[in-house]
Amino acid sequence: MENNQGNKNYIEKAEQFLVHTYNRYPIVLDHGEGVYLYDRNGEKYLDFAAGIAVCSLGYSHEGYKNALKEQAEKLLHVSNLFYTAPTADAAEKLKKASGMDRVFFTNSGTEAIEGALKAARKYAYTKQSGRFEFVAMNHSFHGRSMGAVSVTGTESYRTPFEPLVSGVRFARYNDLESVKAQITDKTCAIILETLQGEGGIYPAEPIFLEGLRKICDEQDILLIFDEIQCGMGRTGSMFAWQDYEVKPDLMCMAKAIGNGVPVGAFAMTEKVAEYSLKPGDHGTTYGGNPFVCAAVSKVLDIFEEEKIVEHVKEITPYLEGKLEELVEEFETVKERRGKGLMQGLVLERPVGEVISNAQKEGLLVISAGGNVLRMVPPLIIEKEHVDEMIEKLKKALAA
Ligand SMILES: Cc1ncc(COP(=O)(O)O)c(C=O)c1O
Repeated sequence: MENNQGNKNYIEKAEQFLVHTYNRYPIVLDHGEGVYLYDRNGEKYLDFAAGIAVCSLGYSHEGYKNALKEQAEKLLHVSNLFYTAPTADAAEKLKKASGMDRVFFTNSGTEAIEGALKAARKYAYTKQSGRFEFVAMNHSFHGRSMGAVSVTGTESYRTPFEPLVSGVRFARYNDLESVKAQITDKTCAIILETLQGEGGIYPAEPIFLEGLRKICDEQDILLIFDEIQCGMGRTGSMFAWQDYEVKPDLMCMAKAIGNGVPVGAFAMTEKVAEYSLKPGDHGTTYGGNPFVCAAVSKVLDIFEEEKIVEHVKEITPYLEGKLEELVEEFETVKERRGKGLMQGLVLERPVGEVISNAQKEGLLVISAGGNVLRMVPPLIIEKEHVDEMIEKLKKALAA
């Protein structure tokens, strides 16, 4: 344990040497155990952020750590010019869990989005349909690369980097008529989050997804779901679309599939694969290397062994009930939105202030969409952690 100077030094060093793309919180995190994180002073934080919906199994999971150690001893990387057992195993398990047919491993969520956009364009190209446009949603978030920003529906993320990828039209989320108005005979795909995260925690309405599926089927347009944040058990089903029974043609994943190692994936149905990416069309040096795939494989095993999805289903009503009580109790808490362990409280006061108060109480929460306090805890939280979070959040809201 170090004195506070230890924290301060690292904050100053980071500010001096890192590009200023983040307004970081003034905490230097050091290690984690279960659903708790500890800073360099030994201060303990109940973590309801999970590294932005990544660390679903919490911290220092014994089986997960051992799987990483074992693979690190053996082989980290070989490139995609060769086969490895962990990559093949992870693909098989992810196919089973995702309900899709074929998987391409990436290094991040953003890169999964890029791949899915390319896969959709290639599908249209092979079919010589003349289609190339994308319909995306207002308030969506799909990442920060040029392609991902091009389908992200927040002006401030887009404007400084224009001109972006052409042929993108924006519609309103959960408004089927608005999507229909943007579809042309050039539309190759519709892309959306099954539950909008960064935009403010908006779950899709079943009728919206069903309507999109129908439009896509009728016009041979591909439906792309971004499940990078809402996937892998977070909403109470393995992937959020499975709860709606509206299957996408392409799906993007990342975050929780690796539980902390940098890995993402886009997956497609056999129908898409037949006309889409072929050797030479797409690639990545690191993507799906044996190290990250050993992690994915182990995460999927643990999900099954520890019945993580069932646990999320079980604990959700308790969390939702407690959050609803905050809406009743606090004038400034206007609404609860969300599904499973992806919840938001709409606040009528600066969210940053509440986040900062919460940190002083030893609770980590984050924001979404400007006025929403977002909670995406590790999926292993128990009722006692919900109670502890509520107690701390009450103090943060009262301050
Ligand atoms: C829905 C969604 N899509 C894409 C991304 C980008 O993923 P990454 O940061 O791994 O590139 C994020 C990240 O927060 C996300 O929430």
